[in-house]
Amino acid sequence: MVEDSLSPASITDKLETRFIGQRVIYHPRVTSTNELAKQEAQRGAVGGTVVIADEQTAGRGRLKRVWLSPKGSLALSIILYPGVVYLPSLIMVASLSVAHSIEAVTGLKPQLRWPNDVLVNGRKVSGILIENNVQGSIVNYTIIGIGVNVNLKLSDFPGILPAATSLSDELGRDVSRLALIRCLLVEMEKLYLALPTGGSIYQEWRDSLITLGRRVHIKSGEVDCKGIAESVASDGSLLLRHPDGSLTKIVAGDVTLCD
Ligand code: BTN
Repeated sequence: MVEDSLSPASITDKLETRFIGQRVIYHPRVTSTNELAKQEAQRGAVGGTVVIADEQTAGRGRLKRVWLSPKGSLALSIILYPGVVYLPSLIMVASLSVAHSIEAVTGLKPQLRWPNDVLVNGRKVSGILIENNVQGSIVNYTIIGIGVNVNLKLSDFPGILPAATSLSDELGRDVSRLALIRCLLVEMEKLYLALPTGGSIYQEWRDSLITLGRRVHIKSGEVDCKGIAESVASDGSLLLRHPDGSLTKIVAGDVTLCD
């Protein structure tokens, strides 16, 4: 096992960012880093503050699911105070920065699955949970929670979905979590600060989605249907073409590929 400390000093040392990751709160074990980050944000934590843990005992996934993050995985939450117009782009920023940093540190070629899963060789290696506190057009805070299966032998964790993988399972060796998180923070700040310039993040995100043009099964609240994932809109929603030719805009849900 690669021995890598996630101490604030080792993460922030000469970190080439202006604000993301310049303040790090580390705990060996927490319920959920998103929960702690929320409390920090309510106390007025500086933007870019990172809450990170070696282990979560009550990690949360999307759609009220449980996210298992035992030792060896990466669980972190980033506190941001974006303008309301940037909220739909945050999933693009987060998923692309996870994919870029995995590729830079391991050489693996990640893919994205709508809305916010990062896959390696078709299996989920990372999940992202973004929680916003918004009043009208005021964003009180946003928490970007990221979980990555880094050094885990997934066969030891039957509770983690069978369609999951870890970086170490893919590579046959361990990966430095410290290198990964430092790279991730730099990538995230680069993409986040580029949002006001109206750059090409939407196009890159759309082009990285394995979902598009494929026949998919979508489960989203009351919706449970199959169709062709035709496109994504710049607000992050998925456009699903039904067999009868009609089109539905899906804002949240789970997608599995049918073929
Ligand atoms: C998903 O794919 O369902 C999203 C999973 C998000 C998990 C991360 S781990 C760090 C942060 N803290 C949490 O409780 N959840 C997110």
